[in-house]
Amino acid sequence: MKALVTGASGGLGLEFARLLAADGYDLMLVARSADRLEANARELHAAHGVTVETIAADLGRLDAAAELVARVPSCDVLVNNAGFASNGRFDTIAPERTREELLLDVVTLTELTRAYLPAMRARGAGRILNVASTAAFLPGPFMAVYYASKAYVLSFSQALAEELRGSGVTVTCLCPGATATGFVERAKMQESVLNRLPLADAASVARAGYRGMLRGRDLVIPGISNKLVAFSPKITPRRVLLWTSRKAVELP
Ligand SMILES: NC(=O)c1ccc[n+]([C@@H]2O[C@H](COP(=O)([O-])OP(=O)(O)OC[C@H]3O[C@@H](n4cnc5c(N)ncnc54)[C@H](OP(=O)(O)O)[C@@H]3O)[C@@H](O)[C@H]2O)c1
Repeated sequence: MKALVTGASGGLGLEFARLLAADGYDLMLVARSADRLEANARELHAAHGVTVETIAADLGRLDAAAELVARVPSCDVLVNNAGFASNGRFDTIAPERTREELLLDVVTLTELTRAYLPAMRARGAGRILNVASTAAFLPGPFMAVYYASKAYVLSFSQALAEELRGSGVTVTCLCPGATATGFVERAKMQESVLNRLPLADAASVARAGYRGMLRGRDLVIPGISNKLVAFSPKITPRRVLLWTSRKAVELP
């Protein structure tokens, strides 16, 4: 059984890879940092004896998914984990960065799913884990594109999960809140209020998502505070929701 994990050079992706390797999956690890991927591959092979291959690729480019699929034609488990956020006023963020964010967080995730799904359906077995965020449940001023892209991932995943019901293939959407990985630093939001809240541990978040995926659950929101965030739009006036969302990520 083979699992492909995007964004497996660190953070949640590495934790997913550890869980998969412990369950005996051979792995295909993808991210841009070749050195870190190779170090992870050595660690996982030594610990669990599974075959671990790596592909150093930038998935934030048009056609990145097609190029990856040409090298890895099939997998039993697809973990669409790679993603990043830009923080700042939308009109001040470089358009190239926004395009890369959309390509990585939305387009590549969609195209990898489209590419691997038909064979999974034909086999009557397969697992897809898409990593969204609690950001999927509300608009995010000063991280507008990221929040909207995660709303897409949630909506897309839940719709697909319904289309696939009874097929043997499942789609699970994991919605973590703030988690201790390289994410905050990459988004340059160390000074944000969000970063002053307690961060979840990456291994526990990945474990919750992984278990949910194995059980074929549509949606996993780890932790009570994240469940409250997901529920809050149902009971909070939109204006208040936008204000709190803005205060969480706007830099001083
Ligand atoms: N941490 C949080 O607070 C949090 C909360 C909610 C949701 N999430 C989501 O969780 C997922 C994993 O993020 P993380 O928290 O583990 O962050 P992270 O530590 O920054 O890891 C991101 C991973 O994605 C890879 N990546 C980034 N850009 C890439 C590109 N253009 N092409 C290929 N790979 C790329 C990175 O590797 P390279 O740099 O080597 O390419 C790295 O392996 C993301 O989808 C994120 O949106 C995170």
